[in-house]
Amino acid sequence: MPGCAEEHHQSVLHPAGPAAETIEWLWWLLFWVCAVVLVVVTVLTLWAIVAKPRARTGEPQLGNGFIVISGIILPSVILVVLLIFSLQANLRLRIPETQLTVRVIGHQFWWEIHYPDHQIITANEIHIPVGVPVKLELRAADVIHSFWVPHLHGKMDLLPEHTNFFWFQADKAGVYRGQCAEFCGVQHALMAFNVVAMEPLEFERWLEAQKHPPPPPMDEVLQRGQRAFFVHGCNTCHAIAGTEADARIGPDLTRIGSRLTIGAGTRVNNYANLSGWVANPQPIKPGNLMPPSFIPPEEFHALIEYLVSLR
Ligand code: CUA
Repeated sequence: MPGCAEEHHQSVLHPAGPAAETIEWLWWLLFWVCAVVLVVVTVLTLWAIVAKPRARTGEPQLGNGFIVISGIILPSVILVVLLIFSLQANLRLRIPETQLTVRVIGHQFWWEIHYPDHQIITANEIHIPVGVPVKLELRAADVIHSFWVPHLHGKMDLLPEHTNFFWFQADKAGVYRGQCAEFCGVQHALMAFNVVAMEPLEFERWLEAQKHPPPPPMDEVLQRGQRAFFVHGCNTCHAIAGTEADARIGPDLTRIGSRLTIGAGTRVNNYANLSGWVANPQPIKPGNLMPPSFIPPEEFHALIEYLVSLR
């Protein structure tokens, strides 16, 4: 599937930015320390089971010193050391100075994306420049969701009526898959998104292009498709910049044609999948808010052509 970060589809152990690297480092520290403790305790337990009681062999008993050192002092030292490294990691995960803010609003079951400083609204896809920390303002429109891009950072909840601040940074261009990480209803599992990390110049070009709505369709088929969009009520839920459609119930479709996926990461975005989705999204993602459409074939295909042309 396009939209994968190479061979690691979603992995906290293949960090692509400083925040995820910090978490990975702490993960491995905890893993190895706990692994060593487990091995030592297992060996001692087996030894205690197998060895003959010292009372019978006549060897001196292990004194209280052994219990105090290995039962109290050693575990305390290990826990304090781990605590210090955890606190240090916490400091490194604080939100740094950022130039770019992205607002993410969680909906059942998709992601509304705003670039508040640039008056850009999109959905289910976050474009960011490589090597730059990005501040995230997270909020929910309905129930609690959780924002998670394993390659870039840990999880952060999106709450109704409260904004959580978060950040991430990608150090390598690529597409990183994100996923809602808090059960939010029947389609929680199909609430994904993509983070597209671009070289800074490419990102500037992308940002600039987003500021201008797509030109009105000149082609006859596309014009018919645009009319169908209004006649059949798509505009009651969706917005397309540069047209009169400005509803915010469903995802903004201004550049739907350029997105990698449809249905919040549910399907690859192509003509066939988009047709299936518009015709009836319920079998694909049961419980989402979009009803099936009943549009005559010719108009339907013009509508899909029009949506595909929105780039
Ligand atoms: Cu949104 Cu789970």
